[in-house]
Amino acid sequence: MLTSDYLAILAALVLTAFIRVRFGKRSILPLPPGPRKLPLLGNLFDLPTDHQWLAYAKLCEKYNSSIIHLGALGLDFIILNSFDDAIELFEKRSHNYSDRPQFTMLSELMGWKWAMSVMPYAEAWRDRRRTFTKYFHPGNPDVYKATQIEFLRKMLPQLLKEPENFLSITRHAVGGISLSLAYGLDIKETDDPNIELAEKAIASIVKATGSGTYLVDILPILRYIPSWIPGATFQKQAKVFRKIQEEFLCSPYEATIRNMATGSARPSFVVDAVSNIDENRNLEDQHSVIKDTAGTVFLGGADTTLSGIHSMFVAMISFPEVQLKAQEELDRVLQGRLPEYDDLKDLPYVAALVKEIIRWQPTFPIGVPHGVMEDDVYKDYFVPKGTIVIANAWAMLHNEADFPDPSSFKPERYLKNGQLDPKVRDPALIAFGFGRRICPGNHIAISVLSLVVASVLLTFNISKAIGKDGKLIEHSVKYRSGIVSNPEPFKCTIKPRSKAAEDLIRSAADSY
Ligand code: HEM
Repeated sequence: MLTSDYLAILAALVLTAFIRVRFGKRSILPLPPGPRKLPLLGNLFDLPTDHQWLAYAKLCEKYNSSIIHLGALGLDFIILNSFDDAIELFEKRSHNYSDRPQFTMLSELMGWKWAMSVMPYAEAWRDRRRTFTKYFHPGNPDVYKATQIEFLRKMLPQLLKEPENFLSITRHAVGGISLSLAYGLDIKETDDPNIELAEKAIASIVKATGSGTYLVDILPILRYIPSWIPGATFQKQAKVFRKIQEEFLCSPYEATIRNMATGSARPSFVVDAVSNIDENRNLEDQHSVIKDTAGTVFLGGADTTLSGIHSMFVAMISFPEVQLKAQEELDRVLQGRLPEYDDLKDLPYVAALVKEIIRWQPTFPIGVPHGVMEDDVYKDYFVPKGTIVIANAWAMLHNEADFPDPSSFKPERYLKNGQLDPKVRDPALIAFGFGRRICPGNHIAISVLSLVVASVLLTFNISKAIGKDGKLIEHSVKYRSGIVSNPEPFKCTIKPRSKAAEDLIRSAADSY
């Protein structure tokens, strides 16, 4: 870029900040505490770009407040570090705190504005959320449990055959479950084109939601700049990403509609919803709602749950005593057979282990930001309309008072006399978000995580990998920074627990 381009962008930034600050409504009440703000630029240089959850937790400590404010270029950010604040604002005042901040690159230029998780709090969102919960109702596990079991039964022999590929094997299985629940499409054993498409789509979203990646998110007017203007590489990038988004939304949906026409469609969310379309209402609108909701299931179900599954492997190599205790319970309760969904209620240690996975390395460490619809006052602080409110889930899940010795992986913290202790805070109340935007797929995620933990630990031992020098690789697995935080690629040793376990895996897979 030429110096003059930089100067033009800087001038536009300062002008936007000036307009936002000068004409934005302010109250005589103070904003929550936070670092000192520079004129116009505010806290631009204080906004963390890496592992934000740690930086926010430190700021709260520094200002001795569970709620802090950062402002940059006229935008307001409020960070909530305590569970009580999140409940007060996101649940008790949910009518005002259920919006989503809009990011031009993701929603408009890449075209993801149809995704429920991205939509503003309005009628279109309500239609999609209602459609989702009507089919995937927590009281109706029948719509997902058989699919989850089928994919996991087929996953186990692959782990037996190529244990070193456990990261991609689990990715394929979890992607397959989401694709199947949403569309009922057949999935190839490896390299399935729809699963590859989902991977590309998620990679493009991760890129677009990386903090401070695109200037157009701060200056939405830049969206009108043509792609040939120097410095407008984001337009070229958006074009490529938009194509992936369009294919992701349309291709599996259209394949399902074609299968329905030939009578070869398998039961799924789309098949059920399309079969129940109301002929007296606008057909195009109803198809859009179904198509968007299916896309959200496919999108929301895969990477998030996978991150939890990969964390299970990390925990098992770091805390081997936990694995032994889980195996003791699984052997005792299942008596040599693979787990079914209905067994989960009899496996309290496994349930506690899943809670600890969700807490120890939360998939969304800073949740998904909520937006404020009207000016508000909280704890005598002013909360301006349009504020982006971030619940620091990591800080809440690593809070010493609720979870003593938080960096240790201890399923026992949820148990009393061998049963789940209702007095201990359930990490799911934090890790899946809050209020009207709470994750509607949380019961599906917990079910699949529990089934993976039970099936894998019943049949395999997971331990540290052995390096080329024959010595154990001493791990310190790193977690990626981003809206979804997952472990960077790592190795471990996965071996069947016995000959009987191998036979069990093979015979169970034969029935599919
Ligand atoms: C371990 C796995 C998962 C975690 C940790 C997780 C977590 C979250 C969180 C933190 C949010 C934002 C809540 C908020 O705004 O306060 C969310 C939203 C959402 N999740 Fe999940 N999720 C998981 C799995 C799933 C699954 C399996 C599905 C679907 C089958 C799903 C579908 C959604 C949808 C549709 C939204 C958007 C809700 C809205 O904006 O109204 N998630 N999830």
